[in-house]
Amino acid sequence: MNKRIITTEFIEEDIKTENRLRPEKLSDYIGQSKIKEILNVYIQAAKQRDEALDHVLFYGPPGLGKTTLAGIIAHEMGVHMKVTSGPAIERPGEIAAILNSLSAGDVLFIDEIHRLNRQVEEVLYPAMEDFAIDIVIGKGATARSVRLDLPQFTLIGATTRAGMLSAPLRDRFGVIERLSFYTPEELCEIVIRSAGVLHMDLEREGAMELARRSRGTPRLANRLLKRVRDYAQVRYDGKVTKDVAREVLDILEVDAYGLDQVDRNILLTMIEKFGGGPVGLDTLAASIGEDSGTLEDVYEPYLMQNGFLYRTPRGRVVSDMAYHHLGIPCPTERKI
Ligand code: ADE
Repeated sequence: MNKRIITTEFIEEDIKTENRLRPEKLSDYIGQSKIKEILNVYIQAAKQRDEALDHVLFYGPPGLGKTTLAGIIAHEMGVHMKVTSGPAIERPGEIAAILNSLSAGDVLFIDEIHRLNRQVEEVLYPAMEDFAIDIVIGKGATARSVRLDLPQFTLIGATTRAGMLSAPLRDRFGVIERLSFYTPEELCEIVIRSAGVLHMDLEREGAMELARRSRGTPRLANRLLKRVRDYAQVRYDGKVTKDVAREVLDILEVDAYGLDQVDRNILLTMIEKFGGGPVGLDTLAASIGEDSGTLEDVYEPYLMQNGFLYRTPRGRVVSDMAYHHLGIPCPTERKI
């Protein structure tokens, strides 16, 4: 399951290229036009006032550019960015040390911020609100709290699960933005830009084929681009045409809608074991051997957005389109 080429989670093979392909400037960032416009205004305003930017929370499915946007904000503001993640910070002292190391205006990026533990979160509240942390010195009866001032900084949080963020933490973000899936046209521009950075010969038609099958996700589009590049180099003359792109995507079993075996298995399981639904999230997750959080955050959004699956009060249901896509006759009377 973890080996799927179209997983949108960050995997090892992305490390080398992803950083190289990330745009540094807002003007080079393709897609998410509403977010770009908002950020542009806030960045200009903060710079004019010589202040740190308000704290920002980005949420949405993996691979859509939350980290990239954080990097762009830091670059445009002309400040340093420290990167960490929710599960990496275990104790209050660790977050206190990170906060204490920031310089005026710096960006602190916390990925998977919904996974911060409660004690760590509580250090963040005064840090975000008053730019200060309270440190307890001593133990027992002699313990006292000392307030330590911090420079003004910008916290940028990223999460795939906005619903899991505690209300006090969410309320302390001045800007909260949801990233949405990219259109095939936007993804096409992104892979053309990436091909330029990687000095690849990519035809527009080949780019469009990749874009259509990348489930709205730049991380996936760029990963497929690299696979296609290797293939074109070894088997052909290095040029990525529509035919080369198609051939590789077929080999990787990524279909015309960008669905892979795991997606098709989800739909097939729902049809074969549960008559197309309704089926509860936990039951479905157990049947495909995945945990329900991953099913909900990683697999479902794209299937829902593209009309293969929908939620009802009684559970998940596959659409008629899912039957057609899998070549299974759709029962004429479906009780939903
Ligand atoms: N590479 C990855 N995401 C990108 C984006 N949104 N714009 C440009 N290049 C990208």
